[in-house]
Amino acid sequence: MAEKKIILTGDRPTGRLHIGHYVGSLRRRVELQNSGEYDKIFIMIADAQALTDNADNPEKVRQNIIEVALDYLSAGLDPEKSNLFIQSQISELTELTFFYNNLVTVQRLQRNPTVKQEIQLRGFSDLTASAGTAETGTEPQSGDVGRSGAAGYIRGGAPNKPAGIPVGFFCYPISQAADITAFKATTVPVGDDQLPMIEQTREIVRRFNTTYAPVLVEPSALLPEGESCMRLPGTDGKAKMSKSLGNCIYLSDTSEAVREKIRGMYTDPGHLQVSDPGKVEGNTVFTYLDAFCKPEHFEKFASCFVGKKVSFSFASLDEMKAQYRAGGLGDVMCKNFLYEVLEDTLAPIRERRHKFEQDIPYVYEVLRKGSEAAREVAAQTLAEVKRAMKINYFEPGVLDALIAEQSEKYR
Ligand code: TRP
Repeated sequence: MAEKKIILTGDRPTGRLHIGHYVGSLRRRVELQNSGEYDKIFIMIADAQALTDNADNPEKVRQNIIEVALDYLSAGLDPEKSNLFIQSQISELTELTFFYNNLVTVQRLQRNPTVKQEIQLRGFSDLTASAGTAETGTEPQSGDVGRSGAAGYIRGGAPNKPAGIPVGFFCYPISQAADITAFKATTVPVGDDQLPMIEQTREIVRRFNTTYAPVLVEPSALLPEGESCMRLPGTDGKAKMSKSLGNCIYLSDTSEAVREKIRGMYTDPGHLQVSDPGKVEGNTVFTYLDAFCKPEHFEKFASCFVGKKVSFSFASLDEMKAQYRAGGLGDVMCKNFLYEVLEDTLAPIRERRHKFEQDIPYVYEVLRKGSEAAREVAAQTLAEVKRAMKINYFEPGVLDALIAEQSEKYR
């Protein structure tokens, strides 16, 4: 029998999904879903993981579960084909995490480059580093408001919010291994920032399987295709689209909002006159076109290149880029074209979202049913895990043998 192909992936519900999520993962998931190549697809709203750095703000996480679910459904994830569920409702995941914790060292977790970076970004002050007792590779940041006084609490911060790295946050790669292995996922479609999590998962699987019994499956990451799809920059040209930077185009944005954001978008700061040669590399308009433009768009939106003074007719993105490099093609024309190209993808998503927004009971029913189905699968794996670890004392048949074995000792 051929090995089953199973997908698991997910997102933290800390905000609405933006077009960076779309090209980085969502679009691919829908393709994979519709390819018919996978036996099972699990898409998880990782609320428990979101809480690892939002302990003081569970309401934000709760509110965004529905936003992410709406984004999933409107982007084309189909509950008939993909099992959508909420992480916290699968208590088996926490149990698996508890056992995997014993297979990972603190030192190993400290080497995770994504977690290191996130610790810096979130300003969790690293108390151990300043004491010189641990090497985490995080440089103390001057002016870091998260830096604590001797009491270990953030100065001027919330009185109930201790400074430092929350244990749950530090350990989330282990919980992520539980997410993946509970469903025996073979394939995890993620961005490259998640590669350390997949590597950590593979290590846990190997360690578990050799220590106890071969019940877990080693997953592989499936990275997005194409460089521009790996990580879409923000509309301001900054490396990453992120809510806190205010440089996102959301899947739920209105067409007017999309137009406004494109109007203010970063291009080539050296391209002052239309006639000047322009740079395509690092020019956000072209990066977005790389990610969204299809050959047929040039015919469909040819009118974007008809101007009062000059007109162009392009057959491909390469031709358009060549003209931009040579000079004469202005940013306004490029932006108008980008707007049409983006809307070609976003308008149908937006329309579907409006429909689902009018049927919230349906959305929660999808999540409830999906969570129930996911729980059955995770419970199955957990039972196998406990069996492998021989901590299934009261399972039918096991107890009799256990009693016989232990009675023997005292005979
Ligand atoms: N860490 C992922 C993110 O930040 C979310 C996530 C949680 C995940 N568990 C997962 C992704 C398991 C893939 C597989 O987006």
